[in-house]
Amino acid sequence: MEEDLIKSLCGIVGEENVKSDIVDRYCYSMDASLYSSIPDVVVFPQTTDHVSEIMKFANTNGIPVTPRGAATGLCGGAVPLKGGIVIDLSKMNKILEIDLDNFCVRVEPGVIQNELNQVLNKRGFFFPPTPGSKKMCTIGGMISTNAGGMTAVKYGVTRNFVLGLKVVLASGEVLELGGKTLKRSLGLDLLQLFVGTEGTLGIITEALLRIIPLPEETAVIVAPFKDVYEATKTVNSVLSRTVPAAIEIMDRGIIKAVNAYIKELKLPEVEAILYFEVDGTREEVQRQIEIIVETCKKHKSLNVQWTADPEKKLMLWQGREAAGGAIMNLDRRLVRVYEAEDVCVPISKIPDMVKRFQEISKKYGIPVGLYGHAGDGNIHSGVLIDVRNPEEWRKLKNLTREVYETAMSLGGNISAEHGIGALRAEWMRRIHGEGLKYIKKIKEAFDPKGILNPGKLGM
Ligand code: LAC
Ligand code: ZN
Repeated sequence: MEEDLIKSLCGIVGEENVKSDIVDRYCYSMDASLYSSIPDVVVFPQTTDHVSEIMKFANTNGIPVTPRGAATGLCGGAVPLKGGIVIDLSKMNKILEIDLDNFCVRVEPGVIQNELNQVLNKRGFFFPPTPGSKKMCTIGGMISTNAGGMTAVKYGVTRNFVLGLKVVLASGEVLELGGKTLKRSLGLDLLQLFVGTEGTLGIITEALLRIIPLPEETAVIVAPFKDVYEATKTVNSVLSRTVPAAIEIMDRGIIKAVNAYIKELKLPEVEAILYFEVDGTREEVQRQIEIIVETCKKHKSLNVQWTADPEKKLMLWQGREAAGGAIMNLDRRLVRVYEAEDVCVPISKIPDMVKRFQEISKKYGIPVGLYGHAGDGNIHSGVLIDVRNPEEWRKLKNLTREVYETAMSLGGNISAEHGIGALRAEWMRRIHGEGLKYIKKIKEAFDPKGILNPGKLGM
């Protein structure tokens, strides 16, 4: 079978686009999570027809297929848990059309977020959703996880920018969904069904995305706080007066880790730092700065700094940009594990979520640094454990459960932007309740043999 499989795939995409030796297969066995599983073969299609032919072959033979972008995901979404074929879409990376009359761009799924924006910026436009992994992550991956990022506060998440999709189903059938109109009221929205479903219903081979003009000016405001509760309260107060492009937070743990990571940065070792980005016309930016500075001071911020100077802006952002990479410096004997790392709560509940998270961390004796997109109620965490100690893993499981239960009891959810993948698959029933029955029927309708990204989303 293995030989037949490889021969058939070579027949579809050419020998140079099929990798089957163990070293190559090992490289495609993981993403940025702790999951790994070696595929039987990795294939690099270059057209929708290629993907369709691969799917027809896989479906006829009941072979699992896992689509993959840049594999920056944190939940095992691109890990081929059941082996089979990995379809790597990175060679489908062309920008097919830039339509500035209709404010949209048509791209293949392997286009990298930052590269798309470099091209668009030159024309005075941008595609706002910006995950932390913007320099690596692909548009296909962003759509498949409904990625968010820092600017979701003002602009929304990936879903809000998807106008159209070309999708290959498990059978190989190709669906063309949506179009260049900005509004549509046409009954069931199949287009949006493929956003955030992590390649379990179909494989995206083309996307039509909305783009918007670049703002005239942007500025950054940074405000340290002695009290984390006051900092989180500030978020609410600011949002009741204006909507910045981004509101980010870092707590004491992350600040400490960042300072250990970049020695010359010397962030104030306070309980929390808030970062705001504002954009718009010069006047709008000025007005927003005034509101934010005034609000931060009212909430007893120690020393508010702001700048619209491009170089100084980068300097001020440095701390937050380094947060993810710096976390291990919180305690060099421990290892960061991606668990309980993406909860989301209603804005008014951010203070409670942060406080409870810190209490849970103390209760289990597991160091946690909190950061993330405070303006969306989306809290990321850097959780550190001694990975050689099984007891630590047991404690981690309990910590994660308590964090998820807390987020849900506050009216929130367990993943704002990273997704379910394999990591949170067992939570699908708890999240969706009776709805899961219908979700499974939808899966059956699109993929009756269950070959598309099996083991993910509890399916
Ligand atoms: C970030 C990733 C972890 O915001 O979502 O940096
Ligand atoms: Zn994030």
